[in-house]
Amino acid sequence: GTTAALIPAAGSGTRLGLGFKAFVEVGGLSLLARSVAALAPHVDEVLVALPEGMELPAGINARAIVGGETRQDSVGRLLRATVADTVLIHDAARPFLPANIIYALLEAVAETGAATVALPVADTLVQAGAGEMWGASVSREGLWAVQTPQGFRRELLLEAHERASADGHAATDDAGLVARQGGQVRLVRGDARLFKVTTPGDLALAQALAQVWDG
Ligand code: CTP
Ligand code: MG
Repeated sequence: GTTAALIPAAGSGTRLGLGFKAFVEVGGLSLLARSVAALAPHVDEVLVALPEGMELPAGINARAIVGGETRQDSVGRLLRATVADTVLIHDAARPFLPANIIYALLEAVAETGAATVALPVADTLVQAGAGEMWGASVSREGLWAVQTPQGFRRELLLEAHERASADGHAATDDAGLVARQGGQVRLVRGDARLFKVTTPGDLALAQALAQVWDG
């Protein structure tokens, strides 16, 4: 079967505050360029959802469509723009994607039809109470933080998206939508380098990591 990488890159980057986030550069390359380059060697096509009015910069080996209001809308549009049997959904905002993770994810998807990269939580967790005071302690036992890429048989994810929009259900990722309709989602051990560039602090980390990553 064929495999497509689908990259939601249509966000506005509000928390980072530097304009459209996918176009922000670290170590001389945009987050989008890095994410596309990581996936392109492993798939038959790369499709990117961009903010309305933005064009794919030269040198990025992908096909672009216009994204939607939310990440879920952008992924929905990407899913309808390909006929690939298998799709790997990956946030443009996670520019450091090791090849061994892609191999592990593809293997898991071939076996189960749905899988996501995720990392066991290492920090102590707390539910904040009123006034940003310590509320209830939360055990981290068995808790994993979900990352991307996430891989699915396309038909399975499309069905999950259709059901979610019929129900008016909003989610921050795709594996959660599949799990919600009873799908089995395999957890593939992720990598700290797959952190999402969300805040200015994350950007500082990304700039430092780019030096090591690019040699
Ligand atoms: N995304 C998208 N379409 C949207 C919103 C988000 O394709 N309407 C993409 C982003 O471009 C990003 C990924 O989904 O690659 C994860 O979203 P997030 O980190 O929240 O990025 P932004 O929405 O751009 O940032 P913010 O929430 O701070 O505005
Ligand atoms: Mg967002």
